[in-house]
Amino acid sequence: MPKFFLDGKELDYTPGQTIIEAAKAAGIDIPHFCWHPSLSVAGNCRVCLVEVEKAPKGMIACATQVMDGMVVHSDSPKAIQMRNAVMEFLLINHPLDCPICDEAGECKLQDYAYKYSIGKSRFDEEKNHKDKRVELGPHVMFDQERCISCSRCIRYCEEVVGDPQLTFVNRGEKVTIETFPGKQLDNPYSMNVIELCPVGALTSRDFRFRARVWDMSHTDSVCTGCARGCNMEIWVRDNIVKRLIPRENMDVNQYWMCDYGRLNTYKFINDETTRVKSPMMREEDVSQDAGGLKECDWDDAIARVISEIKNYKGDEIAFIASAYSTLEDNFVLQRFAKEIVGSDNIAYIPHIEGEDDKLLLRADKTPNANGLKLLGIDPINGKFIDKILNKQFKMVYIMNDSLGRLERTDEIAKSIEIAVLHISNFYEQSHKATVVLPSATYAEINGTFVNFQNRVQRIKPAVATLEQERLPGDFAVSRLDKFGAHNDRWTKGTRFNARPAWKVISQMAKVLGSEFGYDNTEEVFDDMAAKIPALAGMSYEIIGTHGAVVGQSEEVAV
Ligand code: SF4
Ligand code: FES
Repeated sequence: MPKFFLDGKELDYTPGQTIIEAAKAAGIDIPHFCWHPSLSVAGNCRVCLVEVEKAPKGMIACATQVMDGMVVHSDSPKAIQMRNAVMEFLLINHPLDCPICDEAGECKLQDYAYKYSIGKSRFDEEKNHKDKRVELGPHVMFDQERCISCSRCIRYCEEVVGDPQLTFVNRGEKVTIETFPGKQLDNPYSMNVIELCPVGALTSRDFRFRARVWDMSHTDSVCTGCARGCNMEIWVRDNIVKRLIPRENMDVNQYWMCDYGRLNTYKFINDETTRVKSPMMREEDVSQDAGGLKECDWDDAIARVISEIKNYKGDEIAFIASAYSTLEDNFVLQRFAKEIVGSDNIAYIPHIEGEDDKLLLRADKTPNANGLKLLGIDPINGKFIDKILNKQFKMVYIMNDSLGRLERTDEIAKSIEIAVLHISNFYEQSHKATVVLPSATYAEINGTFVNFQNRVQRIKPAVATLEQERLPGDFAVSRLDKFGAHNDRWTKGTRFNARPAWKVISQMAKVLGSEFGYDNTEEVFDDMAAKIPALAGMSYEIIGTHGAVVGQSEEVAV
């Protein structure tokens, strides 16, 4: 393999690689604003200037290809002087408003200003003033003064989304970004420009001014918005989810996630008005239509479910599993149905909407339909629904889903004598249940989903419930942790009285005289891996932070 030298280190490179790419491959970060591994090279910020021996002038590392034997210095006095000059130039018109800037704490310009600039400016004229609140689209706000004209957002719309919506206008110090006439920044992936923007020029209208990044913890997770399962981080302050942002996984979502996933899969977690805050049950003689669900404790709710189960034969009880729930929750529900209740009536409600798009979004809007397939749980069919309608199924146990997503909802609801709802949030119809068991959301539990590529991916608790479970490695991380502060912020704030579904169902099995023997979610997974051939050899450790594929993986379509 050909070699070159960077800051005295001999490094391999692949012919055709630029200095910045070869350095990155060796784990060395050369400062950069406009360069991004998934975008074309613009070469306009100049902060990546390095000294190349035998070259008369500084070279930009993002656009200079490595050559055999090339000697590059990114930390020589000349390289540092060039970088300082670029930083001084970039800061001439940039407002020094870090204390009120949403990007503070995660701003590349701020980081480099601390690390590389000389710490003072020779510019004592009035800074250039521009518009500070431009609504580029429904989700993105633009502060023109903070823009350093790196063009990442422009190139992203054109090259990744395939929908050019942004462009530069004007020249020199007047240059700024605008949408094309008659257009908005409203593509389904528009919010990725927020993380792409290396400064605080593009901010999220959903998140801006809602929390400082150093006051939050972040936890690796997976989006539940569709079968892609984009890798993401859940950002939390005082036990409230404040934002979801994409996490790099080149095999699943590259660096991106869609606006739908970001905005629609977290607000229900802390929604005080719809969250089920306590187990509830209906008094024995009160009809469905009369309402009358009353709060009760866990033991009473579980005892009521069991006493209802005892009133029926196994084949009179049906279970609705959920493609929104983890493998672990569905596996334990399936065991409970078959081994404890003696019912083979278990199915799930699919949720297909529209078509797969060309970037990430899948028509299947559930995160775990492939997981249910692995478990041998089929989508609900006409025969199953008929058995509800003609009252062959008298009791229906519904986990993390709503019959409201089926046609003839009212008829179906009326046909069920006893409905047990194991859910995190109330919805229309749920007041007709006999028992409601509060379920923890995906942001509060450990578990796994299987995406459309048959990749098993982990979720971890980012928000604490009253009864939290933490496995080794579950601890949320904070921006301050890197400075050595103990900043475990997820333990503050309100906690809901919700439990992982598998745990509640295991408790029911125990009361009915059968121990599943699981102490934590990982043990449920290990039991599945021992029993389900497709999961053989898998473990939480093997799944790691980026998932592991079972069976045949589909070609990645990104
Ligand atoms: Fe979530 Fe699907 Fe969007 Fe990815 S593409 S962010 S998984 S909704
Ligand atoms: Fe090389 Fe911007 S990163 S010029």
